[in-house]
Amino acid sequence: MPERKQFVAGNWKMNGRRADGVGLARGLARLANGAHACDLLVCPPATLLLPVGEVIAGSSVALGGQDCHASPAGAFTGSISAEMLRDSGCSHVIVGHSERRHGCGESDADIRAKTLAAWRAGLVAILCVGETRAEREAGRAVDVVAGQLAGSVPEGAAADTLIIAYEPVWAIGTGLTPTIADIAQIHAAIRDRIPSATRILYGGSVNPKNAAEILALADVDGALVGGASLKAEDFWAIAQASR
Ligand code: PGA
Repeated sequence: MPERKQFVAGNWKMNGRRADGVGLARGLARLANGAHACDLLVCPPATLLLPVGEVIAGSSVALGGQDCHASPAGAFTGSISAEMLRDSGCSHVIVGHSERRHGCGESDADIRAKTLAAWRAGLVAILCVGETRAEREAGRAVDVVAGQLAGSVPEGAAADTLIIAYEPVWAIGTGLTPTIADIAQIHAAIRDRIPSATRILYGGSVNPKNAAEILALADVDGALVGGASLKAEDFWAIAQASR
């Protein structure tokens, strides 16, 4: 099996004014000068893409968007296209985050279209999947994730165009995480359904304390970090836990 370099991504969500984002990016760029085994990405809110991009230019930290519209341009008030993200310096975009699936009613078909849009613009899509608490308690976690993959991953996915993030909805922002065995089980199930070199991230309450144990799992190829990515030292500690 080809080696998969671990990948640690920070999803800043709807947080930060210019001074906060620039300060965070400066801290990270400085820390990322040090040795690290993984690829690093930050996904600031759209208003901060340009200033953050300027700060991290030339560092080992890449820039990503948090979502994109499926169309390249048009009358879609409030939306941003994959092409615009690319033009703003992004190399990656998150699609299908649970805050979009469940918070904004996005379907697998929507996420599939956004993934194709990302590819059209030359971006790597970080496609999120994950079960709700009720689905897990009903013993349906693997089925739900398999269904989301079947419905939202387009034909032609390759390791350099797609990253999967397994994010149990109930673990996001709650401080709760699945057991290590449960993470391993879902990641193995995802691995069976995607090209073998494709990276699979775990996301949901990753922090400097639990990162090493999670990132040590064979089928965990990195982390998608929300809350802990808003502090440069915490995000860096997670990156340092990568193998
Ligand atoms: P969290 O968020 O780390 O704050 O749980 C993860 C995510 O939503 O990507």
